[in-house]
Amino acid sequence: MRVIRRLVPGDVPLLLEHMLGLGQSDRRLRFCAAASDSVIRRYCTSIDWGRSLLLGCFEGRWLVGVVHLLSGDLGRPELLELAISVERAQRGRGIGAALLARAMVAARSRGVAALRFVCLAEDEAMQRLALRAGGRLVTDGEHVDGTIAVWDWEASRLGPESLSPGAERRAG
Ligand SMILES: CC(C)(COP(=O)(O)OP(=O)(O)OC[C@H]1O[C@@H](n2cnc3c(N)ncnc32)[C@H](O)[C@@H]1OP(=O)(O)O)[C@@H](O)C(=O)NCCC(=O)NCCS
Repeated sequence: MRVIRRLVPGDVPLLLEHMLGLGQSDRRLRFCAAASDSVIRRYCTSIDWGRSLLLGCFEGRWLVGVVHLLSGDLGRPELLELAISVERAQRGRGIGAALLARAMVAARSRGVAALRFVCLAEDEAMQRLALRAGGRLVTDGEHVDGTIAVWDWEASRLGPESLSPGAERRAG
């Protein structure tokens, strides 16, 4: 059964397992740069939980996808940085869309106006996901800057899972 819930610091070992399980090309897509095991370990163990919201998608006890929302620019609290990853074997099954939908609901309940992300220009899956959520994309040829407005977002754009009652409560 698929469950999406908020991750807490005690989930770092699961997060590490998920992140270390990403191959080199996926790590490059996720971090927009090559990421060694030690870079991944540092990322997972130095998360600023006071400024972050992480939601994990579980298939049974297995963490198969993660979305990380981070309040980055302190001068712009209305924006959250978004980064997302889904285990390769589980892709194309709507997990990315479900995680993004929950992230949108959580952001909206916190009064956030928009989610922003950067991905590589070759990252078609991320761009399709963002476009489906109504995102605007700007590219310099190498990277894509994406902005997804939260307030005028319609849950139906990301599929039926995003419409489940209580999603906001579970994501919070
Ligand atoms: C981006 C990512 C999270 C999407 O996860 P997912 O679970 O496959 O997402 P979904 O199943 O909801 O599909 C999302 C969209 O991507 C498309 N997609 C999936 N795999 C694709 C591929 N290899 N090439 C192009 N599009 C692809 C799907 O068709 C869907 O688009 P559609 O709704 O227009 O049909 C996943 O590919 C991933 O983890 N990539 C590596 C990390 C990364 O790139 N993160 C983004 C930078 S922060």
